[in-house]
Amino acid sequence: MLTFADKPTLVGEKVLLRPVRPEEDLPMLRVMLNDPDVLRYTSDAYTPEPPEWDEAMERRVVDWYTTRNDQTDRLDLIVVDRATGRGVGEVVLNEWDEPNRACNLRIAIGPDGRDRGLGTEAVRLLTDHALRALGLNRVSLSVYAFNARAQRAYEKAGFRVEGVRRQVLRYADEWIDDVDMAALADHWA
Ligand SMILES: CC(C)(COP(=O)(O)OP(=O)(O)OC[C@H]1O[C@@H](n2cnc3c(N)ncnc32)[C@H](O)[C@@H]1OP(=O)(O)O)[C@@H](O)C(=O)NCCC(=O)NCCS
Repeated sequence: MLTFADKPTLVGEKVLLRPVRPEEDLPMLRVMLNDPDVLRYTSDAYTPEPPEWDEAMERRVVDWYTTRNDQTDRLDLIVVDRATGRGVGEVVLNEWDEPNRACNLRIAIGPDGRDRGLGTEAVRLLTDHALRALGLNRVSLSVYAFNARAQRAYEKAGFRVEGVRRQVLRYADEWIDDVDMAALADHWA
């Protein structure tokens, strides 16, 4: 059985998931982290303007990505578009709950990689790794109710809706619900 300390390369039809290569990936990750859709759908608080990208932010981002391969309780992989060989985003297993063999999954794909089935395949590949190679029983995530594309991608990848937490996010002058979804080992074909 593999562990979170192992950083595999997972190969699908459209995408390949591989460990972070900070030098090569940082330019793409900077674009991704500043992308309006990524900010809208992955932030836990609404900000009308993207956060200012100053030196401190740059340092935090560089530190973060240069230490991803040393982590023994999570797995951060870059989503590579096999058609071009270029990184387009990241997909992550985190919040490991060891005694209950569960973790969370998160994904963000930048503007060059979206709407071509790459996200669905990346989620499916990493969930398969979690449930089979890592021996986890449960992979869960939450998705804002106004993110229909992500919900559809997760459903196609094999996740099921478990419930809705109401009015979790104040987005401009609206309340947005959060949808909980999960994939379980005994339902994973
Ligand atoms: C969410 C994300 C990972 C999905 O990956 P993707 O490669 O863009 O999505 P896919 O092409 O694999 O699948 C998207 C599906 O949603 C559908 N879709 C797209 N826009 C939609 C919309 N507005 N409403 C309903 N369905 C929509 C597509 O038609 C497709 O379904 P289909 O294959 O049945 O036609 C990616 O778009 C992303 O990272 N977005 C920005 C950040 C984000 O939302 N992260 C997730 C936070 S929970």
